Amino acid sequence: MANSLRYFVGNWKMFGVPGSYKILDKINQFYHKDQKNKNKYKIIMAPPDTLIYDFSKRFKNKKIIISSQNCYHQDLFGPYTGKVSPFMIKRLGVNYTLLGHSECRSAGETDEIIKKKFSLALKNNLKVIYCIGENKIQKRTKSTVKVLKKQILKVISKNNNFNNIIIAYEPIWSIGSGSIPSPSELKKNITILKNFIVKKFRIKSHPKFLYGGSVDKNTIKHFKSIKELDGFLVGGASKSSKNFIDIIKNFYK
Ligand code: PGA
Repeated sequence: MANSLRYFVGNWKMFGVPGSYKILDKINQFYHKDQKNKNKYKIIMAPPDTLIYDFSKRFKNKKIIISSQNCYHQDLFGPYTGKVSPFMIKRLGVNYTLLGHSECRSAGETDEIIKKKFSLALKNNLKVIYCIGENKIQKRTKSTVKVLKKQILKVISKNNNFNNIIIAYEPIWSIGSGSIPSPSELKKNITILKNFIVKKFRIKSHPKFLYGGSVDKNTIKHFKSIKELDGFLVGGASKSSKNFIDIIKNFYK
């Protein structure tokens, strides 16, 4: 079940100006010096739309892969003020998009809308990092697995290619809060979900799963032993090169 290639994904949310490429420069330099471990992981960064063109050009032949944070679902072009389609994102040289982040869901994105985004993104050759997660009440009432399975089934369908999908499990109660799930609980849930997907979608190997929610240089230690995790989606700590690099360093320490 364990995949030895790990993903360290940063989500900048609404952060960054053109000069913020320097943060990525430092992460890129660290990567090149990290002889011992650099073949064991990939780095993906999701800056806001205002920066993805510049950053994707700048880091084209470097280690950092650029992702968008979201995309629009109705069409390739059209009368949708303020929206950006997966077609437009792909033309910038960007190969990934996040979808279904809980902050987008709480701003009104339903599973139905996310499903449309998901299909259109994959159709336009964007790989998708699909975020799922339960809220505090759902956790308290022990509905976590049920909620996560539903989020998976509402959006992913049998004809989707799991080579182009990464699932990011981000408990809503954990995002930006400093609280994390216990490693045993996390391991158990990821294992259940990976097996569920294999069975349900009749795929041969386990899908990739990231964990997100208050990942930083300290909490990363608790996740090291969870072989079922294929990586991490990092919000707050991805805005500083030092914090992000420390996460990678501490993971492999
Ligand atoms: P956090 O955010 O690392 O700041 O908790 C994670 C996310 O929202 O993707």
